[in-house]
Amino acid sequence: MLRGSRYIAVLIVVAVAAAMAPVDCAHASGSLSDFSRTGDWRSENHVPLIECPAEFKAGEPTTVTVTVGKETGHPNTALHHIRWIRLYFVPAGATLSYEVASFEFSAHGESIVGADSSTLYTDPKISVDVRTGVPGVFYATAYCNIHGLWESAKAITVVE
Ligand SMILES: [Fe+2]
Repeated sequence: MLRGSRYIAVLIVVAVAAAMAPVDCAHASGSLSDFSRTGDWRSENHVPLIECPAEFKAGEPTTVTVTVGKETGHPNTALHHIRWIRLYFVPAGATLSYEVASFEFSAHGESIVGADSSTLYTDPKISVDVRTGVPGVFYATAYCNIHGLWESAKAITVVE
């Protein structure tokens, strides 16, 4: 049985060894998308709903709106809120994504008085005008500070 300073010395050695151990990325598996959730936006209030026409006119601005909690509102308090929404586009046949827009929601009722004491809130809904000349798929991601990463997708076509 270790006692006193010898016990502390062993703890320090173990802690230093653990801190200096190389990160074994070779054995990490999967990707961040493995931890992203999705579902039916009507019943799951974290799923970002992408709303836009199914058909875009080539080169013309078209509004894309992304909402979290449209049917059943998501909480918006200092302790539980949607922190951001991002919108991406993957043109048909492409292997890379384009970031279209990124919105951060910074007001969740906090003030100098404390949590949930102000009347200032940013609700998780964004709109952006997008022009494209090619069809593809919009992907929206949203992050809840409690329940993590969520995503959805919507395909569009393009006419001349
Ligand atoms: Fe949540």
